[in-house]
Amino acid sequence: MVDYLNLAKTYQTPLYVYDLAHITDKFCAIKDAFRARKSLICYALKANSNLSIIHHLATLGSGADCVSIGEVKRALKAGIPKYKIIFSGVGKSDSEIAQAIESDILFLNVESEAELKRIEHLAQSAKKPARISVRVNPNIDPKTHPYISTGLHENKFGVDIEQAKSMYIFAKNSPHLEAVGIHFHIGSQLTELEPLKQAAQKIAELAHSLLALKIDLKFFDVGGGIGIRYSDESLIDPYQYAQAILGALYGLDLTIICEPGRFLVGESGVLLTSVLYEKHNGKKRFVIVDAAMNDLMRPALYNATHKIECVYRASQDTKESLCDVVGPICESSDFLAKDISLPPLCAGDVLMIKNAGAYGMSMASNYNTRLKPAEVAHIGGDVRLIKHRESIEDLIKDEALLLQEHRSKGAQ
Ligand code: LLP
Repeated sequence: MVDYLNLAKTYQTPLYVYDLAHITDKFCAIKDAFRARKSLICYALKANSNLSIIHHLATLGSGADCVSIGEVKRALKAGIPKYKIIFSGVGKSDSEIAQAIESDILFLNVESEAELKRIEHLAQSAKKPARISVRVNPNIDPKTHPYISTGLHENKFGVDIEQAKSMYIFAKNSPHLEAVGIHFHIGSQLTELEPLKQAAQKIAELAHSLLALKIDLKFFDVGGGIGIRYSDESLIDPYQYAQAILGALYGLDLTIICEPGRFLVGESGVLLTSVLYEKHNGKKRFVIVDAAMNDLMRPALYNATHKIECVYRASQDTKESLCDVVGPICESSDFLAKDISLPPLCAGDVLMIKNAGAYGMSMASNYNTRLKPAEVAHIGGDVRLIKHRESIEDLIKDEALLLQEHRSKGAQ
């Protein structure tokens, strides 16, 4: 059992705490679900890009799905081999594309005709053919929060089936491009299997027609998106998920690539926070804590629910009442939970915000010049600090230097 109170005392709060054994279990569950085929699990770094988390997944055999060259560099630094790294994203810059080609990663997921032409040009300049895969937008409603839905034509992601076909033909005719895969990703926090199944079938049909055109695909990249239970959502079973995809792939000899983020790390993490004050505005009760929307943005951004439990309370009084748990930031959207039932709390009590391992720290900001939390990971009773708490010096060092340079130039 993890002694969360001791962790809060030792490392202070707000503090992210991750359970590496849980991540191992999740990785094995998804890898095992695809055991009937060759598969590569490419962890979506955007969910949690701490080097130690990536390294842990690398030791399990994971690849990486990256959305910036920064993430590609993190993946390489954390020990993910280049041949297991893919680079996706709707707006890659020339410099990012050139570096990705230079790094010799597995492939780039291409999201527009214009981007394909840029990649061709940059591959020609590098004298190195670029391996690519096209992200196809199947126009299927994934039935998730609109901000994290990506598989409809109204979303900016991917290209429609006809455009995809002409991009593959363009790639086939170019000596600088090698089309090795086909890709879709319809959304995140998916709780229904049917949209994924329909998307896989649609994209598999396209793969058949491309193979008939002698376009030699090797990878079928099904993106990420498997949801987790924040409150009472229904869940997609990894085995049924894999079966749905394998069913669509009948007759296609392709290696499956899957890009889970939240599924692997979401439930592994909690955010510990200390109570600062309680207050009442009229009848409304607020519990003010030392974590805020800059530390965990999901409630403010998506109205997301994260369950909150007490780790330590000084009071013996157990009579619960409704309250909002809010942070110190000057925004009314700075809440971590609304209308939840908690017992009386006072300064120094410690709360745990659950299921915060994905899109928690990776989306944290310094708004209001707040310092980002520290992160610790534990496995088999061993606890490690995997990110120091930021200091004000860390935060302002580049600004301070620039100011000095301007001043000294002005003085000359
Ligand atoms: N692959 C691609 C191409 C993606 O865009 C994403 C997530 C993933 C994989 C991983 O999806 P996952 O397995 O984690 O659902 N900030 C939001 C989630 C944004 C997801 C963006 N793309 C949140 O906190 O819910």
